[in-house]
Amino acid sequence: MGKRITLSVIKADVGGWVGHSSVHPALLEKARGVLSGSPLLIDFHVTHVGDDINLIMTHERGRNDGDIHQLAWDTFQACTEVARQLKLYGAGQDLLADAFSGNIRGLGPGVAEMEFEERASEPVVVFMADKTEPGAWNFPLYKIFADPFNTIGLVIDPKMHKGFLFEVHDVLHHRRVTFATPEESYDLLVFIGAPGRFCVKAVFHKETGEIVAVSSTQRLNLMAGRYVGKDDPVCIVRCQSGFPAVGEVLEPFAHPHLVSGWMRGSHSGPLMPVSQRQCTPTRFDGPPRVVALGFQLSDGKLVGPQDFFADPAFDKARETANEIANYLRRLGPFEPHRLHLEEMEYTTLPDVMKRLKDRFEDLRGR
Ligand code: F6R
Ligand code: MG
Ligand code: MG
Repeated sequence: MGKRITLSVIKADVGGWVGHSSVHPALLEKARGVLSGSPLLIDFHVTHVGDDINLIMTHERGRNDGDIHQLAWDTFQACTEVARQLKLYGAGQDLLADAFSGNIRGLGPGVAEMEFEERASEPVVVFMADKTEPGAWNFPLYKIFADPFNTIGLVIDPKMHKGFLFEVHDVLHHRRVTFATPEESYDLLVFIGAPGRFCVKAVFHKETGEIVAVSSTQRLNLMAGRYVGKDDPVCIVRCQSGFPAVGEVLEPFAHPHLVSGWMRGSHSGPLMPVSQRQCTPTRFDGPPRVVALGFQLSDGKLVGPQDFFADPAFDKARETANEIANYLRRLGPFEPHRLHLEEMEYTTLPDVMKRLKDRFEDLRGR
């Protein structure tokens, strides 16, 4: 029997270098320093994608553990101090509360955690995106776990043939519902095809009930009631031996789908798969991008990372993403490049409307 391990990925933007583009190395150094002093963790890996710091941590304390969440909170606080000293941009922006209150969820940072019995060999992929939102995972998660044109294992691996269970969260009304695929895939798509409202939170193996994937689903803008930064999301996927193969898990990203985010969290753009080295958004604060780091777990130790999208096999996807970006940018302030009114993080509409309200004439009865 393998050990029960919890893999926690907790992320926050606590100050950008320069603007909202990247993370200063001093913050990563600080985060590593704080985590390495903790007796709670088996192992950790600190990295960043764009302006978000990602704490990838393993331990044996289960999900939603107050001490682990406190550790992440303290780490982000310490990084915020450094960000303030360097006058980095938006220092402390994702730490919405003044003090930690037992669970980091709802306080600003994004959280994806799963607890499982480590298998004889446990390959995992951690996806981390910048300049987009949690619903960005809906498309790839559907492809990975429910689309036989992406995942041939659904057809020819007897251990996957019965399908998977998708736990979907309605982020507007804070409720959840679970769908079984393939039999309920059309019902599932009714919801997750609207990624601004419905997000795939987790995926389970239908036969064994094991957790296979989990994402971060908080929406900061809804939580705070005002713009505090896009909820750049993370997602963990376990691979192989009855779960999708690593290559099946990476495959959807060869086709850059359109996601919400980009400039001022108010635009639609292609999700570009990039290496760790290429993870700094530039053009129009984007385009949105995603990094995939692979690890083998060994009694909770993170053996890795493998920087998957560094592979030239994803060059074509980057090229396609650049073409899509070029095309969309020419639309400027017009939809569908600009998000529709309810989805924009920034808007001047109420103010402009107020100023012009007397200039609107009623057309009824004319
Ligand atoms: C999008 C993002 C950036 C900022 C933009 C304006 O998620 O982080 O595109 O929205 O740079 O930032 P402020 O309002 O801070 O000047
Ligand atoms: Mg930022
Ligand atoms: Mg960000």
